[in-house]
Amino acid sequence: MPRGCPFAVPESYAKLRTEQPVCRVRLPSGRPAWLVTSHELLRQLFTEPHLSANRVHPGFPALLSGQQALNQKGFLPWMDPPEHTMYRRMVINEFTVRRVQRLRPHIQDIVDTHVDRLLEGPRPTDLVQALSLPVPSLVICDLLGVPYADRDVFQSRAKIMVDRAASGPERMASLVELRAYLADLVERKQTAPDDDLLSRLAVKYREAGVEDTEHLSGMALLILVAGHETTANMISLSTAYLLEHPDRLAELRTDPGLIPGAVEELLRFFSISDHSTNRVALADIEIDGVTIREGEGVLLSNAAANRDEKVFEDPERFDPHRDARPHLAFGYGIHQCLGQNLARLELEIVFTTLFGRMPTLRLAVPLDDVPFKNDAIMYGIHELPVTW
Ligand code: HEM
Repeated sequence: MPRGCPFAVPESYAKLRTEQPVCRVRLPSGRPAWLVTSHELLRQLFTEPHLSANRVHPGFPALLSGQQALNQKGFLPWMDPPEHTMYRRMVINEFTVRRVQRLRPHIQDIVDTHVDRLLEGPRPTDLVQALSLPVPSLVICDLLGVPYADRDVFQSRAKIMVDRAASGPERMASLVELRAYLADLVERKQTAPDDDLLSRLAVKYREAGVEDTEHLSGMALLILVAGHETTANMISLSTAYLLEHPDRLAELRTDPGLIPGAVEELLRFFSISDHSTNRVALADIEIDGVTIREGEGVLLSNAAANRDEKVFEDPERFDPHRDARPHLAFGYGIHQCLGQNLARLELEIVFTTLFGRMPTLRLAVPLDDVPFKNDAIMYGIHELPVTW
């Protein structure tokens, strides 16, 4: 569904939401599925026990080919209860607001270093490579306990995985290498635990009697993938939007206290993970006068729900003063984003530092020349040339 404006959601969502909030659609594979676009119905379906997140189920509405052939061992968002409940419980403590706040000085250091390099480096430069991608990648290194000496190995593979110039086989190879690297790291943590997430999880797996290197390295890989490109896309999109709307940016610069609220509103406004909240029905489900049959795929559009006028007044307007919290940009229910507190903190620190330290930052090309990710599962920006 095309977007009329890069900062808006597809126009057809508004019409569907009012006329047919549970609507039949065709997937790229040609198979039919259901698309749900209202906030109320999304919340209902996110907590529906007969909807499964299992990507390996033959009825799962896969948007990427080859997804089902991946080694999915340890992938939390692909699990259903009771397996999901057990593994999520083991990791959730690592992502509470309090726990995540402890990372603030590290994150600030990482962001400061990258802004220093930006200021010293050539102009124009691509903000995606200079800031948006390396910051979340390094934060996850810290979180998982990737040793400094290994960071190049880790980051170079992680970079290929999200590089649009990389071919399918190159990306698959880097995924396999990253998984092998993480399995090796997990083994090191299992024998000599340190003060990091992977070590603590290794101990918890052992205590629960489910010690399994491959499973734990899958969990680590998923944390990396889920927390990397998502945050990077939010940094790039939000920066492009604010640079193009100087009055709104000026307001945030004058009163940085508005930034946490603005982050929430930016999450609502862009809803970049619109296509990752898909499910398959394990039984017939009646909703809004429609029967979703067992085995049928369901796409829960959080981008459409986040522009629902029944919940957000004047939803097309960006308003950092509104309470955007009921947004579903992080999903809802049992799979609600594990890293949401971390993402919020990273975004707050990046925007405060970037806009505070670079008052003359601006786009180096017209907005029309910025390559938005219209073709990707995750919305964002491939390259963002900026100058100052
Ligand atoms: C702005 C950035 C982010 C956005 C928009 C985002 C969005 C989402 C969404 C929509 C889901 C729900 C998927 C579903 O229902 O199927 C999710 C789940 C998840 N996210 Fe995030 N995410 C972000 C950042 C992060 C970060 C920083 C991490 C970790 C470091 C992370 C880790 C996860 C994990 C592990 C899950 C699966 C949870 C489960 O299945 O129980 N995310 N995310």
